[in-house]
Amino acid sequence: MVDTAAIERAKEHFGKLLVPQLERVERIKAEGDWLDFSGIKPIIIGTLGGDGIGPAITEEARRVLEELLADEVAAGKVEFRAIDGLTIENRAKHLQAIPDDVLEEIKGCHVTLKGPTTTPEQGDGWPNLESANVGMRKELDLFANVRPVRVPSLGIDWMFFRENTEDSYAVGSEGINITDDLAIDFKIITTPGSERIIEAAFEYARQNGKTSVTIITKANIIKTTDGKFLDVARQVAERYPGISWDGWYIDIMAAKLIDPARRSEFQVFAMPNLYGDILTDEAAQIQGGVGTAGSANLGKRYAMFEAIHGSAPRMVDEGRAQYADPSSIIRAGAMLLQHIGYTDLGKKLNMAIEICGQYEKKIATTGRDTGATGREVGEYIVGTVRDSSLESRWNEYVAAE
Ligand code: IPM
Ligand code: MG
Repeated sequence: MVDTAAIERAKEHFGKLLVPQLERVERIKAEGDWLDFSGIKPIIIGTLGGDGIGPAITEEARRVLEELLADEVAAGKVEFRAIDGLTIENRAKHLQAIPDDVLEEIKGCHVTLKGPTTTPEQGDGWPNLESANVGMRKELDLFANVRPVRVPSLGIDWMFFRENTEDSYAVGSEGINITDDLAIDFKIITTPGSERIIEAAFEYARQNGKTSVTIITKANIIKTTDGKFLDVARQVAERYPGISWDGWYIDIMAAKLIDPARRSEFQVFAMPNLYGDILTDEAAQIQGGVGTAGSANLGKRYAMFEAIHGSAPRMVDEGRAQYADPSSIIRAGAMLLQHIGYTDLGKKLNMAIEICGQYEKKIATTGRDTGATGREVGEYIVGTVRDSSLESRWNEYVAAE
């Protein structure tokens, strides 16, 4: 006997779900162009420590950026603002992924640098809050999750454009238990949402001399939503005649990333949210682990840059926070510099991070007092950016690979 009352309840729930999604589509269609930082004074950079080792490593990354931008700060072109309250204790107190007053402060900044934040899971004693990351992406419409992965010795130089607000994440906590036996979640893909992320990938390719963009879906099976993403890609690609593109399915793409014969051919990728979540962890592992990667969450108005590793609460419990490696969040800081228009400085910072962490390794963290402190790593990196030998050390590193 079919439970028709359950079907009616589900229809009603589904109808309610659609309203904010249709409104969101209209907002995307009406949104302006990317913020032009050249006309903004001061550019306000907020820092959010987060949980666990977050405050310690964020502090080091802020110190690095403040030193590199000292002249700009003195000239009133850039301002740093520390924002408190994005901690699990405060979020639990307010029962919000991002407490209202913290969100207001974040919105008062143009960009933010964020340490890792704890996401509660069933049984850990914290209330069941939405992830602060996901909350921030939605609240600030940070639709592009941009993640670079580079391994020169393997010929790998990838740039991932992961859509960051749609797909299975959009209403991930609003699925329906139709009956005790039937559960349904929803995958959401919109035309303007797909267009803006695919366009960002093609634009990046055009501006950086890349010749191809790879679109990743499972459109052979998930025909309506992934089919739309692929259709939009086809249309966007027509506007970039100088850049070739091809579509791959997520399963074979996951295999090809570890195929030494093929992987170095890929350059720029664009994909829906969940495939990007999985594939960027795989890619980061090839580079040395998620702790080595930085991540940019970009919207046309706001942007947030973050370390993509966890908050390592045990290090704090054992009094070792000062030995945590700040490289990942400093790498996010380099992406921040490039985003706000300090392209050259950001590039130099990236070079220094790689020279110090992958090549010379004059000092290294071990996570305890047997290794360097985060402060020492930061100073090593800043010293390398400032040193006149930066270019020659970089060339040596690339040649040695
Ligand atoms: C990431 C993370 C997040 C995600 C978590 C922390 C919510 O895995 O940034 O990739 O799933 O997007
Ligand atoms: Mg992830």
